[in-house]
Amino acid sequence: MPVNKAHPSTSVFKDNIFNGQVVFITGGRSGIGYTVVETLMRHGADAVIVGRDAKGLAESAAALQKSTGKRCIAASADVRKVDQIRAAVDKAIEAFGRIDFVVCGAAGNFLAPISALSENAFRTVIEIDTLGTYNTVKATLPHVRKTQGAYLHISATLHYRGVPYQAHVGAAKAAVDALSQVIAVEEGPRGVRSNVVAPGPIANTEGTLRLVPKGSETDIIPRIVPLARFGETIDIGNAAVYLFSPAASYVSGSVLVVDGGEMHIRGTSLPYPESVLDPESTKKLVVGSKL
Ligand code: HXC
Repeated sequence: MPVNKAHPSTSVFKDNIFNGQVVFITGGRSGIGYTVVETLMRHGADAVIVGRDAKGLAESAAALQKSTGKRCIAASADVRKVDQIRAAVDKAIEAFGRIDFVVCGAAGNFLAPISALSENAFRTVIEIDTLGTYNTVKATLPHVRKTQGAYLHISATLHYRGVPYQAHVGAAKAAVDALSQVIAVEEGPRGVRSNVVAPGPIANTEGTLRLVPKGSETDIIPRIVPLARFGETIDIGNAAVYLFSPAASYVSGSVLVVDGGEMHIRGTSLPYPESVLDPESTKKLVVGSKL
């Protein structure tokens, strides 16, 4: 029986604190990104969601408008393509005339040990997570300076230790954290803030489906998360509302870990060392594994 539960942001924060402000989010079509943008919209923001899947993006934009009553436009772009991300920013400015908040959430992940990770596979995740974040920051910064806005990067906690099968993601997210710190330092004097939120295991997200063994809810989660439950996407939405709100006006260059305390007792969710000595044994444990 969980002793802890997630709460909707509207029960904690005032409505309309982001009225008249605009959020630009990569990776907002689904999962954590979708809830983050929906939560910011529930508090008054208009939004531009950016991603590769044009059809899915349009559907998500329509659903977000319906659930929040705010405006949301879809801008189809691959964060790895500089021209496309610039065009998405132009579309945002054309629609709303400003960008206040940027969420860098586009990411790629799969499980693979270095021995089975092709050079292209490693590069692909670095390109989506790290270069994609850089491209997004570079394209939005002139506009965020004008509004004295803020950045939020959706990172992870796995690079705090050596997590097997995650060399590509660990390297990519470590670089994202480093970028955020430099943005905080370089842009702070202009009134721009930058922070990182580092989610732990969040239920019903692509990351969790790919990374956490089947049947974990009852067997594994209570053993690896002190708060004894999966995180919910609204836990990350609440963190985003706080970090963009005036309540966090002196918070920059920080990493907010939202993981129920997991990182402090982290082992590895895969059997160790069996999983690294015999990657074949991991196949049956993990959904979506292509080992
Ligand atoms: C080994 C794999 C692989 C796998 C792909 N590759 N999946 N290698 N195991 N399971 C290899 C391919 O063989 C190829 O290398 C290279 O990676 C590029 O693959 P493509 O499919 O051509 O790339 P692309 O279409 O750009 O797709 C990118 C992707 C894909 C990352 C591979 O999974 C994707 O689009 N993901 C987006 C959604 C996603 O992953 N969301 C989860 C985010 S969760 P070769 O050598 O064959 O050419 C997250 C949380 C992190 O980030 C923190 C968790 C705690």
